[in-house]
Amino acid sequence: MTSRSTEQELAHPDRKTIQSFFDAIHRQYDFLNSLLSFGLDRYWRKCLVQEAFIFHRHPEARKGRRIQTEILRRCSSSLPQDDGSRLSILDLGVGTGKSLEAFLKVYSFERAVGCDFSERMLVKAKSRLDSSCALVACDFHELPFRSEAFDVVTGSFILRSVQDLERFFSEVKRVLTKSGKAVFLELTRPANRFVYLLYQPYLRYYLPIVGKLVSSQEKAYQFLSCSVQTFLEPRALRLEMEHVGFLETTTKSLTFGAATVIEGRKAAGSVSSDREQKGRRSYEHRV
Ligand SMILES: C[S@@+](CC[C@H](N)C(=O)[O-])C[C@H]1O[C@@H](n2cnc3c(N)ncnc32)[C@H](O)[C@@H]1O
Repeated sequence: MTSRSTEQELAHPDRKTIQSFFDAIHRQYDFLNSLLSFGLDRYWRKCLVQEAFIFHRHPEARKGRRIQTEILRRCSSSLPQDDGSRLSILDLGVGTGKSLEAFLKVYSFERAVGCDFSERMLVKAKSRLDSSCALVACDFHELPFRSEAFDVVTGSFILRSVQDLERFFSEVKRVLTKSGKAVFLELTRPANRFVYLLYQPYLRYYLPIVGKLVSSQEKAYQFLSCSVQTFLEPRALRLEMEHVGFLETTTKSLTFGAATVIEGRKAAGSVSSDREQKGRRSYEHRV
């Protein structure tokens, strides 16, 4: 069993080590992501998209527990489209592109950009995503984009890799348009003590053992397990966002809290209503 101090060390490797983990597991990443989440990652990504576009206020998106891509697509037609004022999106730590692909399935963005510091993950993303998506190799603590360039900034399962949350969220805020929204999906710990008791063996044993068996990258999956065990709670993440000035921050717990969508706006008001007020405005995106 791993001691508390070793757990802390494994949970906070430096950037170079994290980069080497993802370079090393790029081939098995998608398979393991689905296997380790029992296929739930697909559902969680849809929830992320739903939250980003506030579809939950749409009566159709509210129907039933399952979120269907078709319904999301229909609801997204209420967002400004085909009039020169479509939204733009940046996916931080895009990895193999699964979340960005989920966004692109329901909305035709004016500009879609994914960035990651693992070039091997980016190669996988390139093969998955449409050629109109721009993929940029960079560190997400220092974004090479002009200020106010994106309406939506998102990231899935990346917050545990962030070395400096204040700097990271400040960068996210900088590149967001005034009416922009940041929305993240992250693995978290169930708040209910009974559920957490059942969840712990999964986190402590199943994750690192299966990860090691399939990828032979023991350290990478110890990082996954330990970082989830020691990471901030959703409420603390909201406070971190508020600390750099995000407004209307919310969290939405998924699957008993095994994952959470955390979001915030740069200014009060929704992306869509704000955009609608602006009317027909053409946007220049120089990235
Ligand atoms: C757990 S993976 C998530 C990938 C993808 N977002 C998904 O949902 O499957 C984390 C990704 O973030 C990238 N990453 C971690 N730290 C980063 C940093 N400082 N700058 C840029 N990318 C980073 C990794 O290379 C990896 O591709």
